[in-house]
Amino acid sequence: MTAQFPAARPRRLRRTAPMRRMAAGTRLHPAELVLPVFVKEGLTEPNPIGSMPGVFQHTRDSLRKAAHEAAEAGVGGLILFGVPAVKDARGSAADDPAGIVQQAVADLVSDVGDTLVVMTDTCLDEFTDHGHCGILTPRGEVDNDATLERYAAAAVAQARAGSQVIAPSGMMDGQVAAIRAALDADGFEQIPILAYSAKYASALYGPFRDAAECAPQFGDRSAYQQDPAGPVGEALREVRLDLDEGADAVMVKPAMFYLDILRQVRDLVDVPVAAYQVSGEYAMVEAAAANGWIDRDRAITESLVAIRRAGADMILTYWATEAARRLR
Ligand code: PBG
Repeated sequence: MTAQFPAARPRRLRRTAPMRRMAAGTRLHPAELVLPVFVKEGLTEPNPIGSMPGVFQHTRDSLRKAAHEAAEAGVGGLILFGVPAVKDARGSAADDPAGIVQQAVADLVSDVGDTLVVMTDTCLDEFTDHGHCGILTPRGEVDNDATLERYAAAAVAQARAGSQVIAPSGMMDGQVAAIRAALDADGFEQIPILAYSAKYASALYGPFRDAAECAPQFGDRSAYQQDPAGPVGEALREVRLDLDEGADAVMVKPAMFYLDILRQVRDLVDVPVAAYQVSGEYAMVEAAAANGWIDRDRAITESLVAIRRAGADMILTYWATEAARRLR
C-alpha cells in the first residue's frame, strides 16, 4: 500500500507562495534592467511608436522625464539612441559634438548620471541616409575598415559628451579594438565597452527601425549581422574576439529566440553578459496581450525570468521601468 505512493513529491515545495518564493532559483532585480530610449532632434512633442505601444521617440525634455522615472524605479541603466534631423552617406551627425545624441547624453548624465548608468549605442544606421550601419563602397557593400574610423569618432564624441558606457552594435570586424584605441587616445581609458558581440540578422528589429528611423533603404543587414542558422561557434568566436579586443562586457541579441546562445556565452566568459530583449519581442507580447490572448504582466515577467535563467547578468528591455517598479 505505502509502496504505491510516490516517494518523491516535488510538489511539496510548490504548494504555497512563501514556499515558492523562498525556493526560487532565479530572481530579478531592478538594477540589472537597462532601458533603451529614443530621442529625436527637433521634436516638440513625444511621438508614440505605433509598433511599440508605450514607447516613444522623445524630445530632449520628455527624455529627461523618462530618465527620472527609470532612476526612481531603480533601473540600472539607460541606453540612448538618437534620430538626427539630417542624415547623409557617412552619418555625420554621429560624431558631431552638437549632434542629438551628444546633446541628450549630456542632459541625461547631468540629471541621472549619479543614480544609474548612461550608455550610448554606437553605430551609424540612425545617422546614414541609406540606413546601413556603415560607410558604403561604390558597389553598395558596407566597407568594414572605413566604417571603423567612423565608429571610433562617434564613440569619442559620445564619451566627450559624458557617455558612461560605449556599446558598439554595428557588427564590423575589429570595432571593439578600434573604439578602445580611440577612447584611450582621447583620455577615456576608464570608459567601459559593452560589445554587442553576438548580434543576429533578426526579423525582430522591425519596430526598432520605426523608432530609430533606420530601416535600410536597400538590401538587409545579413552581410554583417550573424545568420540565425549559422554555427553556434560563430557566436562564441565573436565573443572571444571582442574580449581579446578589450570588451568589458558582452551582449547577445535578440534574447528570447537565442537563449541557447546566451547560456553558452555565459558559460564561456568571465565578464558580465547582457541580453537585449529587442523591439520585436516587446511588440509580440504587447500585441498578443492587446488582443486578450495572453496575460501581459505574467508574460513580461516570465520572459525576463527566462532571459535571466539562461544566464544574462543584465537585460536591456523596453519594459525596464515598469518591471523595476513591479519588483520594488
Ligand atoms: C543598430 C541597432 C539595432 C537595434 C539596436 N541597435 C537595429 C538593427 O540592427 O537593425 C535593434 C534593437 C531592437 O530591435 O530593439 N544600431
